[in-house]
Amino acid sequence: MRLLPEPSAQSLRILFLFIFVMGVTPSPALTAGCPDKCVCDDQLVVQCAGQDLIRFPDDLPLATRQLIISNNRILDLPALQLNYLSDLVYLDCSNNSLSEISESTFGNLRKLAYLDLSFNTLLQVEDRTFGPLSSLVMLRLTDNPTLWDIHPEAFSENLALQVLDVSRNNLTVLNISNLIALPALRSLGLSGNPWSCDCDTEDLCLWVQIEGFKFQDEGQTVCHNPPELAGQRLAEVGMQLRTDCHQGLGYWDYLFFIAIGFVIFSAGTVSAWVMGVLMVLYERYHKKKSQEQDSDDEDEDDRGGMGCGTQRNGDLSKQV
Ligand SMILES: *[C@@H]1O[C@H](CO)[C@@H](O)[C@H](O)[C@H]1NC(C)=O
Ligand SMILES: *[C@@H]1O[C@H](CO)[C@@H](O)[C@H](O)[C@H]1NC(C)=O
Ligand SMILES: *[C@@H]1O[C@H](CO)[C@@H](O)[C@H](O)[C@H]1NC(C)=O
Repeated sequence: MRLLPEPSAQSLRILFLFIFVMGVTPSPALTAGCPDKCVCDDQLVVQCAGQDLIRFPDDLPLATRQLIISNNRILDLPALQLNYLSDLVYLDCSNNSLSEISESTFGNLRKLAYLDLSFNTLLQVEDRTFGPLSSLVMLRLTDNPTLWDIHPEAFSENLALQVLDVSRNNLTVLNISNLIALPALRSLGLSGNPWSCDCDTEDLCLWVQIEGFKFQDEGQTVCHNPPELAGQRLAEVGMQLRTDCHQGLGYWDYLFFIAIGFVIFSAGTVSAWVMGVLMVLYERYHKKKSQEQDSDDEDEDDRGGMGCGTQRNGDLSKQV
C-alpha cells in the first residue's frame, strides 16, 4: 500500500506550472486587456472618449465599473456585449450617434447608477427601456433633437431614480402618471422642449406649478403651442388649462354642487323645523299633563287605577 500515488512528482510539477501561469497571466476579468484606443486603469475605469469610434469597444474588461465612450460616433449599443458588464456602475454614452435603445439593451446592468445618453439622435424611449436598471439614480437624456416620444411607462420601474433630465429634445407632451409616483425623484429637467400646452399636458403643467422647486430651469420650461400661449411658462398656464379643459364638466359640476347644496340646506331646514315643532308639541303636552295631574290629585281616590298611571307620569316629568 502506497501513501502517495506514483505520479506525485509529476502532478506537483503541473501544479507549480499552473501556479506560475496563474501568477503571470492575470485573472480572466483583466485578461481581456484594454480595448484599442481606450485607457484602462486599476480602478476599473475604462476611458474611450473622443476616439472617433464608430463601434462599441470590443474586449472590455468584464469587471469594468465605469465606462466612458462619449464624444465618438458610435451607432448602437450591442446588448450582448454591454450585458457582460454586470458590475457597471457608471456609463457615459453622450455625444454619439445612437438612434435606438430597446428593452434588452440594459437587460443586466442592475448596479448601474449613472447613465448619460445626451447628445445623440434617439427618436423614442419605449416601454420599460430602463426597467432592469433598478439602481439607476441619475439619467441624463438631453439634447436629442429628434426625441419626440417617451412612453408613459419608460421609467415606472426605476424606483431609485432621483434625477431625470430630458431637456432640449423634441418633446411636445409627457404623460406624468408614472413619473409622479417615483418615490425618490427630486429633480426633473424639461426645458428647451417645444411643449404643447393643451389638455394633454394639463397634468404636467399643474405639476410644474405645484412643485416648481423640483424642476431645473423652470423659467425656460415654456409652451411652444398653441401660438397664443407660446413663450409662457408651463407653471403659469396650469390653472388656466385646468379650467379650460374641464369647462363642459364644470357646468355639470356646478349643477351637481348646487343640487347637493340645496339638498343639504333643505335637509337642515326641514330637520330644524321638525325638531322645533316636536319641541313645541312636547312642551304643550307636558303643560297639559301637569295641569291634568293637578286636577287629578283632587279626585285621585275616585279614579283608582287610572290615577295610579297618571301619577307615575307625573313623577317621571318631575324627574326630567
Ligand atoms: C462631440 O464630440 C465631438 C468629437 O467627436 C466634439 O468635437 C464635439 O465638441 C462634441 N460635442 C459636445 C457637445 O460635447
Ligand atoms: C420635431 O418634431 C416636429 C413635429 O412635432 C417635426 O416636424 C420636427 O422635424 C422634429 N424635429 C427634429 C429635429 O426631428
Ligand atoms: C398616461 O398613461 C397611463 C398608463 O401608464 C394611461 O392610463 C393614461 O390614460 C395616460 N394619460 C394620458 C393623458 O394619456
